[in-house]
Amino acid sequence: MTKRAVIPDPVLDIEQIRKDFPLLQTPVYGKPLVYLDNAATTQKPQVVLESLYNYYTRYNSNVHRGVHFLSQQATEAYEQARKKVAGFINARHEHEIIFTKGTTNSINLVASSFGKKFLQPGDEVLISAMEHHSNIVPWQMICEERGAALKVIPINEQGELRMEAFDELLTGKVKIVAVTYISNSLGTVNPIAEIINKAHAAGIPVLIDGAQAIQHVPIDVRELDADFFAFSGHKIYGPTGVGILYGKEEWLNEMPPYEGGGDMIKNVTFAKTTYNELPFKFEAGTPDIAGGIVLGTALDYVQQIGITAIRRAEEELIQYAYNRLSAISSLRFIGDAGHRSGAISFLVGDIHPFDMGEILDKQSIAVRTGHHCTQPVMDFFNIPGTVRASFAFYNTRSEVDLLVEGIEKAKRMLM
Ligand code: ALA
Repeated sequence: MTKRAVIPDPVLDIEQIRKDFPLLQTPVYGKPLVYLDNAATTQKPQVVLESLYNYYTRYNSNVHRGVHFLSQQATEAYEQARKKVAGFINARHEHEIIFTKGTTNSINLVASSFGKKFLQPGDEVLISAMEHHSNIVPWQMICEERGAALKVIPINEQGELRMEAFDELLTGKVKIVAVTYISNSLGTVNPIAEIINKAHAAGIPVLIDGAQAIQHVPIDVRELDADFFAFSGHKIYGPTGVGILYGKEEWLNEMPPYEGGGDMIKNVTFAKTTYNELPFKFEAGTPDIAGGIVLGTALDYVQQIGITAIRRAEEELIQYAYNRLSAISSLRFIGDAGHRSGAISFLVGDIHPFDMGEILDKQSIAVRTGHHCTQPVMDFFNIPGTVRASFAFYNTRSEVDLLVEGIEKAKRMLM
């Protein structure tokens, strides 16, 4: 048997990459910024900023509406971006890619539209105890409207899903499962392939909240066989205000429109309106044209670096951060999953997370503190909130060292 050559992942030149991000060069309080709030939003590379500028200075125009030159250019660029998104997550069809305002909007769309069509009194929707409010509240609202019940897969002390409970909860009453791929507050990576396989074996579709996954791990919606996959542009180095709902054609065709207005219609009379085909059926009104196009540029940027290389760099960095933070006396991790990505949440002694956040801020270290829009997770751990450091591939070990120094300083001041 001939041996195959092992091709090493390209090693990322982080110092060089950091130069792509103007804000990473911008001092805060006169000191270099240590930006560790990437789960909230990521910084933008120069190419993304230029793409936005180019759109508004060279071909700003409305899409799908005009025969004139600019409108055609804008439409082409917007549809090209849809194609890029489809390629990035390996969707079978471009029309399975719906432009939305972001993950929250994508989940609201599915909850409302799927719920109106498929939820009956007595049915159940199954989510998990580690969901972001965006993957709780839309389901609560539609369950209330349709007389259905919301069921919750519990978590354990490590902040992992209790899969034996999932098996028990997956009854014939469940009409849809909606879970996050990666927890925004705990960093837990959930076994979504297993969740999808089990749900499908019971004939139940699955929505994946990919807001904290799209920027960290390769996503292949066809391999995962996800029925719906939601994410936001701004978490993957693109702009705010634009996001994606991927949905399998067979589900999207069955579901009613979410909003009414321009682009989602085929024909309107006062007696009756007929709806446009996919994806436009779900895209009422003038979309965030610039946002969509620029999201395409952000995906190009990520693809150029390579999501696999990004994942490797981030895994090494997170392991380094975990090891360094572990050595801080009186620091305890909130969530200690065997498989984690993106974020590390912790508390130090009895220091309130806000106090820690403020002291770190004065050292120009940006972290997020609070409940991270996951209040049920905080209730489970019986805490008011956490300090969360969240990482991107442009972060460095020396930034982790500064975080550790900053925490030690806060301890000296507050303990
Ligand atoms: N959901 C975002 C976060 O976790 C805003 O910070």
